[in-house]
Amino acid sequence: MSSTPDMLVHTEAGITTLTFNRADKKNSITEAMYAAMADALAQAAQDAAVRCVVFQGDMAIFSAGNDIGDFQQQAAGGAGAQAGQDAGERPVWRFLRLLAAFPKPLVAAVCGPAVGIGTTLLLHCDLVYAGDNAAFSLPFVNLGLCPEAASSLLLPQMLGYHRAAEALLLGEPFMAEAALEVGLVNRVVPPAECNALAQAQARKLAAKPLSALMETKRLMKAGQAPLVQARMQEEGASFARLMAGPAAKEAFTAFMHKRRPDFSQC
Ligand code: COA
Repeated sequence: MSSTPDMLVHTEAGITTLTFNRADKKNSITEAMYAAMADALAQAAQDAAVRCVVFQGDMAIFSAGNDIGDFQQQAAGGAGAQAGQDAGERPVWRFLRLLAAFPKPLVAAVCGPAVGIGTTLLLHCDLVYAGDNAAFSLPFVNLGLCPEAASSLLLPQMLGYHRAAEALLLGEPFMAEAALEVGLVNRVVPPAECNALAQAQARKLAAKPLSALMETKRLMKAGQAPLVQARMQEEGASFARLMAGPAAKEAFTAFMHKRRPDFSQC
């Protein structure tokens, strides 16, 4: 499986580990990183020797979410649009479809900020371990956007409507202990122990019979799977529409210029 410098992919002893490695940009995720993750998931799903996939960052940062420079380029009709690529074929949507349908166990170790897709991808993981410095946030509205990864469906189910509304409408961060309370994470540990714990749990999973693991995961998700895929599609259409709107453009420009956005005209 191929790594990129910013997205390390390593397979050993039945475990594929995807490590965000773009610390200077807070592990924000570029198109190339989504493509690497999508390829790794597609291969891990097929490869009988892979039994489990782990997502991790480092002790200080999980991921700042989508690269906002990439967002800005897409909003301006760049990248995929120029190449005649359908928006739904962008690596991010391919990654999310593969993630939501991934048939083997997914484990995540989260320390520091987990922003946007850095949090929503966790809704599709089976086991999530957090450092006590983990900060989860979903600032889609603050960027003039809407939720993705079926988080508009899964978050209200997990948190209850009002807490989900607070997370999604206000976009304010919530910390590891709150995430533990609502069931978004399995355990909170010191950041220095987080990746090691996730790897230890992955090793336990990798030692179990794969067919039983996969069937159990499939059964737990069976009722939800069609709803998740349908919601992701609906969110994708809304996301693309909002991405081209004035609020998103203002938010991206403000971020790039390190100023507060002015939504008074949006
Ligand atoms: N896309 C592109 N670059 C990003 C980024 C993103 N999502 N998040 C951070 N960066 C860059 C910053 O522009 C900065 O670059 P510079 O050193 O060239 O100026 C660098 O990473 C460090 O970021 P900074 O904001 O100074 O770090 P921080 O520790 O003060 O804050 C975060 C960390 C994650 C809380 C903050 O960077 C943040 O909120 N990022 C935006 C998150 C976001 O809105 N993501 C989209 C979700 S849909």
